[in-house]
Amino acid sequence: MNHPELQAEVARRRTFAIISHPDAGKTTLTEKLLLYGGAIRLAGSVKARKTARHATSDWMEIEKQRGISVTSSAMQFDYNGYRINILDTPGHQDFSEDTYRTLVAADSAVMLIDNAKGVEEQTVKLFKVCRLRSIPIFTFINKMDRTGRDPFELMEDIESVLGIRSCPVNWPIGIHGDFKGLYHRDTRLIELYSGGDHGQDQVQVETISIDDPACPSKIGQSYYDKLIEDIELLDVAGDEFDLEKILSGQLTPMFFGSATNNFGVEPFLNRFLTYTKSPTPRVAEEVGAIDPADDRFTGFIFKIQANMNPAHRDRLAFMRVCSGVFEKGMTVWHSSTNSRIKLAQPQTFMAQEHETVETAYPGDIIGLFDPGIFRLGDTICTGAPVRYSGIPLFAPEFFSRVSPEDSMKRKQFLKGVNQLSQEGAIQTFKRPNIGREEMIAGVVGVLQMDVLEYRLKSEYGVNITRETLPFRFVRWVVETPKPLDRLRLTSTTAIAEDRVGRPVLMFENEWSIRLACENNEGLVLAETADRMNADEME
Ligand code: G4P
Repeated sequence: MNHPELQAEVARRRTFAIISHPDAGKTTLTEKLLLYGGAIRLAGSVKARKTARHATSDWMEIEKQRGISVTSSAMQFDYNGYRINILDTPGHQDFSEDTYRTLVAADSAVMLIDNAKGVEEQTVKLFKVCRLRSIPIFTFINKMDRTGRDPFELMEDIESVLGIRSCPVNWPIGIHGDFKGLYHRDTRLIELYSGGDHGQDQVQVETISIDDPACPSKIGQSYYDKLIEDIELLDVAGDEFDLEKILSGQLTPMFFGSATNNFGVEPFLNRFLTYTKSPTPRVAEEVGAIDPADDRFTGFIFKIQANMNPAHRDRLAFMRVCSGVFEKGMTVWHSSTNSRIKLAQPQTFMAQEHETVETAYPGDIIGLFDPGIFRLGDTICTGAPVRYSGIPLFAPEFFSRVSPEDSMKRKQFLKGVNQLSQEGAIQTFKRPNIGREEMIAGVVGVLQMDVLEYRLKSEYGVNITRETLPFRFVRWVVETPKPLDRLRLTSTTAIAEDRVGRPVLMFENEWSIRLACENNEGLVLAETADRMNADEME
């Protein structure tokens, strides 16, 4: 049963993540979006938060001081009647498997690209995760106020590196440090910018139609001629704007602008909000797709944040509401304990402060106090039990052989490592043929190794030794034409198994992965795997 009020709340929600390489301008763009949402004070604090993070290299100290870190997880603001949830995808030294998991909770993504650099490494990784889910990806080419690459070249870059076609929705006038404005292909209007110079002010815009006879003199004849030429080329050779393709993640609409100067941010935001959809149905194992406006409440846990302060063992579980209305204090069914629980202390996030939530709707993100019962991918719901498909395991990229310094502490060591891998802080692997028992920890972000060491010491009293291994890729073996030890692999490739005994191959470089596939017909490898617990394997 659907309620009109619930339907209206769903319709006005947009939940997305900004994906980019560090320094492309994600913090700046987030600030500006919040600024347009009228949350000026909040915008300042986003930057302050980042500066604080950069100012000290002792991450453990920061985590200890702030206790459970909720600040960088989700931000909510209102704009033009929309309720917007921005999911933060930590970059820099915070980059970890959590960054990937967060994308599972987003309905769409904004891909932010530095116009001088084009598509960079971290963007590629995050893009791939969005692609797996076929979510719409909106491209914003940033730093147009600076000298950068030719816009046509950037379109080519996106296609060749990411394998997705792009369709410019607007087009820059004046590049190479002389950015004058934008031409909007949908309205045939040109916006000329002035003001907004690195400040918090909204930009001053003068609008003129490209068909206005005064246009050439207004923007300058040579800029006008170049614009006409570019547009003709786009019309003839470019992809047509196709909303269906955009929404199924096959085509990325492309926007240009400069976040620091506020150029092009608002036209982008307006179109992004119009084109993207409100939260869409998610598929549950038992009943298929559940409509967000269905009046039964459902949600899933996509991130668990452990408290780094040993005095506070509590954790925070991040839940995305998928359907119905969430109400404070409600009793829900919880999938991994298969029991009914009461949700105490729900929190929402507004930069530094976190407030208690009374109600939340599909698309909203809530932090739940976790006494240690939640697992990644858990479903919670009212009514008959349903389960959303889980959060996958993403291939780690850094590997270390870990062991307890004191062999008498092996039991605590194994307990801690198991607990932390179940929590999703690390993944573990073993090479069965290595001749001695070993434990390999695999992580997506290097800092997770420090977290492992720190937490084993503070929570389990175990000091560990770490030996970095040369592998950079792991792939789960989905199908193999013959036993793994008879495959033709490069000498540096290792055969191993994951925590629940599934076969994997570990590679030092992409070239070895390619060779493994080329030399062994029928070998199927995967970059992600289902999250499973040992008990589920039996
Ligand atoms: P990130 O979160 O993606 O890592 O990037 P962030 O916003 O911190 O931006 C990285 C740098 O790029 C910052 O410069 C920021 O000012 C600059 N930047 C962001 N957007 C634009 C833009 O549209 N044009 C230009 N020219 N620069 C931009 P910084 O020197 O590191 O910091 P700051 O001293 O400017 O704050």
